[in-house]
Amino acid sequence: MPNLTIVGTQWGDEGKGKVVDYLARTAQLVVRFQGGPNAGHTVRVGDRQTILHQVPSGILTPGVRCVIGCGCVVDPHALGEETAALARMKLRARSRLTVDARAHLILPFHRQLDLLAEKHSRSPIGTTGRGIGPAYADKVGRVGIRAADLLPGREERFREKLKRNLAAANVKLMERYRAEPISFKKLAEDYWRATRELARMVGDGSRVITDALAEGKPVLFEGAQGVHLDIDFGTYPYVTGSSTGVWGVGPGTGVSPLWLEQAVGVAKAYSTRVGLGPFPTELEGEEGERLRKLGGEFGATTGRPRRCGWFDAGVVRASVRLNRLNALVITKLDVLDSFEEIRIGTGYRCGRQRLDEFDPTRADELEPVYETFAGWHETTGACRKLRELPMRARRYLRRLEELCGCPVALASVGSERRQVVEVKKEALRWLKSG
Ligand code: GDP
Ligand code: IMO
Ligand code: MG
Repeated sequence: MPNLTIVGTQWGDEGKGKVVDYLARTAQLVVRFQGGPNAGHTVRVGDRQTILHQVPSGILTPGVRCVIGCGCVVDPHALGEETAALARMKLRARSRLTVDARAHLILPFHRQLDLLAEKHSRSPIGTTGRGIGPAYADKVGRVGIRAADLLPGREERFREKLKRNLAAANVKLMERYRAEPISFKKLAEDYWRATRELARMVGDGSRVITDALAEGKPVLFEGAQGVHLDIDFGTYPYVTGSSTGVWGVGPGTGVSPLWLEQAVGVAKAYSTRVGLGPFPTELEGEEGERLRKLGGEFGATTGRPRRCGWFDAGVVRASVRLNRLNALVITKLDVLDSFEEIRIGTGYRCGRQRLDEFDPTRADELEPVYETFAGWHETTGACRKLRELPMRARRYLRRLEELCGCPVALASVGSERRQVVEVKKEALRWLKSG
């Protein structure tokens, strides 16, 4: 059976949650490999909408097992809230979810330090304020506290590590930000209590995944954020703290890249970005507002309005090359239904050069070049077959394929699970076997 990696090709919020949920009906295991509660993956099944932050979207499909891989950073409070909400929906997350023992923990002061760094910076990033950067910094600084530290019999050692890390955080809080220090006793008690739910799910995620792969079970790797928020390949420093592309799967799961078969990139039919940083095709006026309104473009994690603009083929094309994507899924095609004119950024002028791929190291020099399409003025939300889509919508998808250099396997025409059009099923082995 195949395995498939799903990544965001833009700046996050492409609809990865919806796509993972759609594909999960034929999965036995769904794995998150990086990021933490900065992610917000929205899945709508019938009238019920669920926003998942840390738990893989596969949890909404009964019988599917899930893993939070070692490349993730885990916030025990937020995870507890998430599993409690799932339990209220009669979905027992705890018995189906493994958190890799090597995953690092987000500590309460990570969130505080994230927020203060943003507040006091002359050039903030616009982070989600979930403590992601400071948690990954501790990981690479080799002082992080991991899920394994929560196992039975390790409380004393955990408290010692927490005391050491809190002392370092308090120096920053007091000296850098003139903030009140945090007292150890209450923090240690509250935090330890909050970790009890998580502690029951700690296991060897790497082993769970490689065993499943070896047994030929179908495995989905669920990306979070987008390729252009990647710590290396994104618009640095306006990025997140982890590796958001297919290359993140290895270190983020403990699975050799030699296991990976195919990858699909999720792209919105236009572009959005939440937080600061370069965005060549951004629309600042009325058109941007119209996309935001029609697309409901407000952050699933922070509620912030998302910046909106036209589809930027150079951005997605770079993702296709970097990830060696086998196919694309174009989401939110229906949001363009009422536009008289639709534009696509086909590439850039950069001085006297013409570029067809987004280059984040020269982002300020890029001036997008556009192509204009006549809109289709029809509702697409009920379409399920390619031939049911308006001719101009099909033409739009074909042009995206050409410009991005990658076949479009699926198009999503609404937020509900079934609102999907199979465009080129043959592009993905996963779909053929499903
Ligand atoms: P993710 O982080 O990549 O999973 O994406 P988000 O969940 O943050 O944002 C995508 C938003 O678009 C969510 O509100 C989804 O319910 C919604 N959505 C997904 N696909 C479609 C679609 O095809 N059409 C419309 N109108 N909404 C969609
Ligand atoms: P999903 O998985 C959109 C952005 C933040 C900020 C930058 C750094 O839902 O697509 P961080 O809190 O990670 O240090 O913030 O990254 N960001 C996202 N934007 N979708 C996400 O996740 C994001 N996760 C982080 O807005 O610009
Ligand atoms: Mg999101």
